[in-house]
Amino acid sequence: MKEKLEAIRALAEKQLLETSSRQELESLRVQILGKKGELTAILKQMGSLSPEERPIMGQKANEVRAFIESKVAERQAELKAKENELRLAKETIDVTLPGERHPLGHKHPLSIVLDEVKDIFIGMGFQIATGPEVEWDYYNFEALNLPPDHPARDTQDTFYITEKMLLRTQTSPVQIRVMEKQQPPIRVIAPGRVYRSDAVDATHSPFFHQIEGLVVDEGITMGDLKGNLMQFAKRLYGEQTQIRLRPHHFPFTEPSCEMDVTCFKCGGKGCPMCKGEGWVEILGGGMVHPKVLKNGGIDPEKYSGYAFGVGLERLTMFRFNIDDMRLLYENDMRFLSQF
Ligand code: DAH
Repeated sequence: MKEKLEAIRALAEKQLLETSSRQELESLRVQILGKKGELTAILKQMGSLSPEERPIMGQKANEVRAFIESKVAERQAELKAKENELRLAKETIDVTLPGERHPLGHKHPLSIVLDEVKDIFIGMGFQIATGPEVEWDYYNFEALNLPPDHPARDTQDTFYITEKMLLRTQTSPVQIRVMEKQQPPIRVIAPGRVYRSDAVDATHSPFFHQIEGLVVDEGITMGDLKGNLMQFAKRLYGEQTQIRLRPHHFPFTEPSCEMDVTCFKCGGKGCPMCKGEGWVEILGGGMVHPKVLKNGGIDPEKYSGYAFGVGLERLTMFRFNIDDMRLLYENDMRFLSQF
């Protein structure tokens, strides 16, 4: 029996060193020291020993058990340290690896140009005004000197909601809304979306954006319009830009004009972009019609004003040399990422 105990001790010592995980160690421990273990099996045979041998073997067995237990504890500590080391190595973070790049969005070309236009006019003392896109016929047409059967209504194919309510076809109704709320001096621009029943093509869309301008004060003349709008054109398209005013007709201004700027592409020499003219039209404007001032609650005997309306899409297309308006609405990243 003594030899058997020694053999168990020797084998245990060897096997313990061969364990490579705490799990393996635990099953080895059970295999030797457990209830059905090898050592326990030997202890069960103690009954067959003589009374003299029994205490000697008992002591020997206890010694072996204590020895193996301490070796198990030792090995356990070793394995735990090893596992810790491995885990730390595995969890090491390489702080020199480049980070993940999250692509940042940026402004849409229409917003880029609108923000520039706002900056330019704010710099000249203008404020920003807004009005509703679902508008009354009164503000969109009637108050602007376009009574129900006025032929000029036909130039703006209109989405009617009811007979008296519509999607605004222009930002000009904001003129009336501003004048109703505020006495002169008035200096506002009113950017916003407008709607017309047009089919989509390279230069048309059922919705687009305009920027309205309105200045009302004592002694405002066409000279103010010309000076302010020349400043605007030069700031937006460059100092070399020239402007030209041509007579035109709008029901809400008298006199009315259209403003051209020298072609951005050829600088005025004539090219396919300006159809050989050297000039491109960018806006309509004029002196606010006395009837319109009156409809806004302003005395046309005391005050005068000028107004203009400009298409944001057109400004943007000229600004970035874009030849198809649909590109501005299709959200194609290959296009948008260029700005
Ligand atoms: N509302 C006009 C349009 O959509 C543009 C316009 C012309 C606005 C002359 C004005 C103006 O304020 O004075 O065609």
